[in-house]
Formats: sequence, C-alpha cells, structure tokens
Amino acid sequence: MDDLRDKYLGLIAAAGDEAVLEDLRVQAVGKKGEISLKMRELGKMSPEERQTAGPALNALKDEINSALSAKKVALEDAALDERLRGEWLDVTLPGRGRRMGTIHPISQVTEEVTAIFADMGFSVAEGPQIDTDWYNFDALNIPGHHPARAEMDTFYMHRAEGDNRPPHVLRTHTSPVQIRTMEKTGAPIRVIAPGRVYRADYDQTHTPMFHQVEGLAIDKDISMANLKWVLEEFVKAYFEVDDVELRFRASHFPFTEPSAEVDIRCSWEGGTLKVGEGDDWLEILGSGMVHPKVLQNAGVNPDEWQGFAFGMGIDRIAMLKYGIPDLRAFFDSDLRWLRHYGFAALDVPTLHAGLS
Ligand code: PHE
Repeated sequence: MDDLRDKYLGLIAAAGDEAVLEDLRVQAVGKKGEISLKMRELGKMSPEERQTAGPALNALKDEINSALSAKKVALEDAALDERLRGEWLDVTLPGRGRRMGTIHPISQVTEEVTAIFADMGFSVAEGPQIDTDWYNFDALNIPGHHPARAEMDTFYMHRAEGDNRPPHVLRTHTSPVQIRTMEKTGAPIRVIAPGRVYRADYDQTHTPMFHQVEGLAIDKDISMANLKWVLEEFVKAYFEVDDVELRFRASHFPFTEPSAEVDIRCSWEGGTLKVGEGDDWLEILGSGMVHPKVLQNAGVNPDEWQGFAFGMGIDRIAMLKYGIPDLRAFFDSDLRWLRHYGFAALDVPTLHAGLS
C-alpha cells in the first residue's frame, strides 16, 4: 500500500494537464483501477486481516482522490492564470481617437457667419430653392425683359405643355428670401438668409450650385451708415482681425438704390491673403438700400419703412479665409480633401470660444 501511495502521489504531482490526471484517476481508483482491485481482494481475507486492510485501503483511496482533486484545481488555476496573462487588457488606458467625419468648410463658414450676425441681433430666415420667377425676379424689380435675367444663367424648371402655373426656377440668389420674409413678418426686420443658389456656370471659381447669405434690415431710420457699420463688424469678426478697411464702390442692382459693391483692403504677398493691409482690394459682396418698389411688392409701405440688403458668396469667403484654391473641389466629396479642409465635428463656432 505504501508503494501504491508513493507511486500515485508522485504521478499526480507530476501530471502536466487534466487529461493525464484523468488517466491516473482511472488507473488508480477507476472501476478496474489498482486500488479498486485491491479492495475486491478484501473478500478473500480473514476477518482480522480485513479489519486493518479495509480502513487502510479506504484511507488510501480518499487520499488519492483528494490529491486528484487538489491537483485538478491547481491545473485549472494555472490554465486560467495563463489565459489572463495572454488576454490582459488595461481598461484604464485612454481611448484611441478614431476620426469620424469632418464638418464641411461650407457648413463651418455658415455657422461662423450666423454666429457673428446673431450677435448683432439678426435671426436666420429661409426660403425654397425652387421658387417662382416672381420671387426670384419680378418682385425684386427685375421684369421679364431685364438684362439681369440673361446675365444670371438661370436654370428654368421644365413645364409640360398646357401647364399654366407660374414658371419655376432654381433660385439664382438668396434675394427672394427678402420678399418672403417681408411678406411673412412685415417690418421691422433683421434677418440673414444663408442657402444654396444655382446658376449655369462652371470653372475654377464657379459651380452650378453655390451658397450665398442674404442680409436684410428694415426699420424706420436705417441708412447706408448702418450698412457700413454692420459689414465692417462682420468682416473684422469673420477674418479675425482688429482692423479692416472697406471700400464701397457705386454699382447697380435692380432691387437696391443706391447700390454698392464692397471690397476689403488686402495683400496677396507671398501668395497668401492678408486681410486689412496691403494695396489690393477684394470684392466680397453686393449691397444697397432696398428699392422702394421691392418694399411695395412685398407689402411693406415704402413711405414708412426703409432698410439695407446685402448678398455675399459663402463659398467665396470660405476659400479666402481658409486658403482653398478651387471651388469645384468643394463638391467632389473627395475624402482626402474633406479630411484636409474639414473641421472637427464638436467645435461649434461661437464668438466667445473662437470662430475657427
Ligand atoms: N443678389 C445679388 C447677387 O446675387 C447680391 C445682392 C443682394 C445685392 C442684396 C444687393 C442686395 O449678386
């Protein structure tokens, strides 16, 4: 029995895995195992012999069984330790930044412009991109024969034969939102209207769809002086400079009188644009005092109210501020371009936290 004990306890201690251990269990205490066979021999013994051999064999069987289960637990623990070492994971490590999408420069600049004008008390108005030629032209004092219609390269919507609804166009500018806003709310008014506009034109600085932001301020005593101040404040805030010089050039739009195109002083030294210094001028928008006929067409009494309007190219001021050379790339959806010129999704432009 001592030999059996030494043999099996030694083998159990040396067992390297659970399969070997199971074999040992079968060999020692299984139905036909060595110890079981010895127990069967008890029957052939004399009662005296049996009295000492019986308990001794039972004790040996128990000892081997508990050695087996202790070793089993030890092997399981070792296997678990091994796995934990291999699959170790530090959950306290900082997350690995995965880049999601970016904000398109057009969206970014629209947000910037909106933040600046909101600070001056302007709210945001909208109008449809498909509009009637009344809102896009006639109401803005551009009658059917007016050369401005031809200059705009208008996209006309197809009309079936016999369809006598008013002709529809893809709006060529955001100015129709002036009319819709005046009709809707009456005076006084202080709104900007950013949005898509369409003209049949395509080269490095023109795409058939682009973006404008309209401005409209109507009250009893609004003058060109207010227009100049508002635009100066806007340009300083937008280009993030302390001082700018604006130049108002006499111009002509059918819907404003007088009309002015506005340039800002800039330099292109070294190929990069600097706003506020230098000897060049850069045209950024058209503006003027709203024509009395336009007020009248929109149901606002021109004897009581007056105001200014302006229209600015969002794509253009985005290209200028962020040094983007080709307008067509804005609408190519090239991921490399979007990653390069895009803005972080959660950096919402505000005046206090910074625009860009
Ligand atoms: N609608 C004009 C354009 O697209 C811009 C403009 C708007 C001019 C408002 C004057 C007043 O060119």
